[in-house]
Amino acid sequence: MPQPEFLPIQWKSTYLSLLDQRALPGKKEFLEIKSVEETIIAIRDMAVRGAPAIAITGIFGLTLGAKKKSGKVNSQEIESLIKQVFESRPTAVNLSFALQEAKKRVEGETLWESVQTVWESFALEMMVDDLNANQTLGKNGANLFPKNQEEFHIITHCNTGALATAGHGTALGVIRSLRDMGKKVVVYADETRPFLQGSRLTAFEMMEEGIECYIITDGMSGWLMNHRKIDAVLVGCDRVAANGDTANKIGTYNLAIVAHEHNVPFYVCATKDSFDLNLKTGEEIPIEMRKESEVTQFDFLKTHDGKYLFPEGKTSPVGARALNPSFDITKAKFIKNFITELGCFVPGEIPIRLKNV
Ligand code: MRU
Repeated sequence: MPQPEFLPIQWKSTYLSLLDQRALPGKKEFLEIKSVEETIIAIRDMAVRGAPAIAITGIFGLTLGAKKKSGKVNSQEIESLIKQVFESRPTAVNLSFALQEAKKRVEGETLWESVQTVWESFALEMMVDDLNANQTLGKNGANLFPKNQEEFHIITHCNTGALATAGHGTALGVIRSLRDMGKKVVVYADETRPFLQGSRLTAFEMMEEGIECYIITDGMSGWLMNHRKIDAVLVGCDRVAANGDTANKIGTYNLAIVAHEHNVPFYVCATKDSFDLNLKTGEEIPIEMRKESEVTQFDFLKTHDGKYLFPEGKTSPVGARALNPSFDITKAKFIKNFITELGCFVPGEIPIRLKNV
């Protein structure tokens, strides 16, 4: 677990305190989020990121929205607030599921004051549930690794740790659990272009925990699998379709193909909130397209008072075009197992394992 000063989401009753992940690791700054509008900006601009963290933040955002109102409420007003938050980031399904639940929980409420109370408790409950789920998932994943082996070399992508969740993490949660079982873990963190969640956030979390970690660029995994014995690839996810196709941070699909070629087991770590059984295959998962400038320059790395961390951060010719899909789909055939709080299972078992959960 990160030290309390690094907890990414802290509810302060009158506002939401968010660790600004754009400024990490250089600066540890907290944003004071006081309205639903500010919440949406924080999610869209990735001050807070990671599917579970986005969902929790979204419900605190609704709470802040309700706080600004008083007296009678009608269902259109509720729907319009929910719609605003829903539109902030499209790929991770956690936010959309949480918003559907938030809507259900206030059915029949007639006053904004009670809506606010319901949403506030829901967001706090989500934090507890997510932490518990991550801890269980972590242990389930750690148990997949051979008991008689003392050291594991693991590649991971993006950031799936305490910064992306309510704590512990999903893929990084398995790594933490292995370490807690007394195993030595060596982590290779894909830097995760363009937003650098791997080099900025995963390396930061691993160093905080004293877990040996090497940053590799996203293209190095083939070299690494040829030159060192890699025991597993562990990644998180933003949405899993019913057939097991999985959306995760851009670059995950390439990593899965390389792992397949080298017979390295590729595991997707996810809580039940990531499985979208409404979608048959990954082709139906919406992929967020982000600004070209995130690829062509490093100008997204700003402190909240607007100062650039890299004032001369352009890494491409002026006017160069770029593509910036934020996620890709890893085909189910490349996934050895899903590691969840409900247990570990192969893609074909998804409908049975997730039914009625
Ligand atoms: O764009 P991000 O940083 O929100 O993307 C995050 C990921 O892709 C994570 O792997 C995923 O959300 C799981 S976090 C437990």
